[in-house]
This record gives sequence, structure tokens and C-alpha cells, in this order.
Amino acid sequence: MTGSALRIETTTNGRATNMSKGTILITGASSGLGEEMARQFADLGYDLALAARRTDRLEELRREILAAHPDVRVEVRALDVNDDAAVFEVFKAFAADFGGLDRIIINAGLGKGAPLGTGRYDANRQTAMTNFVAALAQTEAAMEIFRSQRSGHLVMISSISALRGMRKTITTYAATKAGVAALAEGLINENVKAQGIDVSIIYPGYIRSEMNEKVAQQTRFMVDTRAGVKAMVAAIERRKEKAYVPAWPWVPIGFALKNAPISVVRRLF
Ligand SMILES: NC(=O)c1ccc[n+]([C@@H]2O[C@H](COP(=O)([O-])OP(=O)(O)OC[C@H]3O[C@@H](n4cnc5c(N)ncnc54)[C@H](OP(=O)(O)O)[C@@H]3O)[C@@H](O)[C@H]2O)c1
Repeated sequence: MTGSALRIETTTNGRATNMSKGTILITGASSGLGEEMARQFADLGYDLALAARRTDRLEELRREILAAHPDVRVEVRALDVNDDAAVFEVFKAFAADFGGLDRIIINAGLGKGAPLGTGRYDANRQTAMTNFVAALAQTEAAMEIFRSQRSGHLVMISSISALRGMRKTITTYAATKAGVAALAEGLINENVKAQGIDVSIIYPGYIRSEMNEKVAQQTRFMVDTRAGVKAMVAAIERRKEKAYVPAWPWVPIGFALKNAPISVVRRLF
């Protein structure tokens, strides 16, 4: 835990009024899973550093959280994760604001895509840059902070679709999410835990968000945002290395996906 995690404010009579559980930076906090994670982590007593491009949405979320939890500290900053320099600047600025960061959730992502070779390289490239190259920049920026603190919890939001090669509109998206999981697993393999750094790879199934409105995908197992994020938050709080969320039906589906022949995967997804 950093200095920020130990902040205790006292009133004139010396009674403790606020004990933060720590500070969490969340990228892509302006909608969907990131926005709901911010709400649920504030409910648990965490201070929040929230980033996205739509700062009006972040400001609105900040007001909502502070109305419910006046003791929680929420700072917001504009960030386009595709701007490499800005990623490093914003992460460092948040760390300076709070005197350190306890957890960083690399969540910003995009669901654009088209079957390979159908003239939409632009869409697939945009997804690859935002979901993988920008996730790499965020991982670098986060790990610099955690290595210098000798503590921290890195959380990478992958996807169930990362488990196998996926068809058509989600081929590139799934590949980026496999890349994200591989980056995180590389750090687990490096045993950064010995340097005080935990790493979690979260593989969400279908959870309602703005992304699902834009991407054509099956909705059979879709859960609402609050329930889906509750499962994500529980897994993150347990600092699990890998979690398929919600566990039902995604643990058995994940197992089948990883182990079934591609002809069976083709029938599932
Ligand atoms: N929902 C699901 O079922 C599901 C399943 C598996 C994995 N995931 C993953 O969960 C994460 C969140 O997705 P979501 O479902 O919550 O989708 P969403 O509602 O569309 O939210 C995406 C978030 O990412 C941010 N973002 C996108 N491009 C950005 C950029 N260039 N710079 C900064 N922020 C950017 C958006 O903020 P701005 O537009 O304001 O910048 C927004 O806050 C993604 O990584 C996604 O791949 C979602």
C-alpha cells in the first residue's frame, strides 16, 4: 500500500473521519464497465483516479460518486490512450496527486471490427491500436510507477474471446485481448509478485455496455452492467491472477473454449 492508502483525516476533536482503502486508477471510466467499476470501488471506500476522452461524463460520474460518498476522493483527467506521451504524463500526474497508486485497471477499449480482407483495415487497425498498443503503453506507465513504489496491483481487462481465435467481426478484437492477457502473463511469469506487484487478468463474458450496442455479437449470456461488474470487482479484490467473469456460465465455457477442437469452437462462437 502506498501513502495514499494510509490517509486518515481527523476532525478538531481528533476522531478519524475518513480512511481510504487505497487509490485506484481506471482508464475508460466514462462508460460501461469502467464507469460501473468506479461506482462499486467507491462503495468499497477507494479513492479514484478516472481517465477517458469524454471528460463531461467523468465529471458527471465524479459528482454522482461524491454525492453518495463525500469522503471519497475522485480526480478526473482527459486521456486518449492512443497518445503515448499523454498516457505516461497522466499516469504520473495521478500518482503525484495521490502520493502513489495502489491499483491500476487497464480497461479502455474498442469493439470495432470487420472480417479480415474485407476492406476495413481502418477499423481493425483502430481496434488493434487502442486495445493492444495503447494497453502496452498503459502497462509500461503502470509498471514504472509500481516498480518504483515496490508495490501495486495491475489489472488488465482482457475478454473471454481471448481464449481462442474468433471469427469475422471479432477476429482482430479477440487477438488484441489475447495480446493483453499475454502481456499480463509475461509479468506473472517474471514473478513481479516478488517485487510487491500483483497482476490480475480479467476475462469478462458478455456484460451490457456501450460496446455491446456497437458490436454484433451473441447476447445469449448477457448480464446487466451492475451484476457483471460486481463479479469483476469481487475477482479484483481477491487479487486473482486469472478470472472468467461472471463465473457462471463463463468458467465452463472458458474451459470448453480452451480445450475443444476448433470445429467445436466454431459452433459455440
Ligand atoms: N462489455 C463486455 O461484454 C466486455 C467483454 C469483454 C471485455 N470487455 C472489455 O471491457 C473494457 C470496457 O469496455 P465496455 O464494455 O465498458 O465498453 P464501453 O462502454 O464502450 O467503454 C469503453 C471505454 O473505453 C474508453 N476508450 C475507448 N477508446 C479510448 C481511447 N482512445 N482513449 C481513452 N479511452 C478510450 C471509452 O472512453 P471515451 O470514449 O470517453 O474515451 C469508454 O470509457 C474494454 O477493454 C472491453 O474490451 C468488455
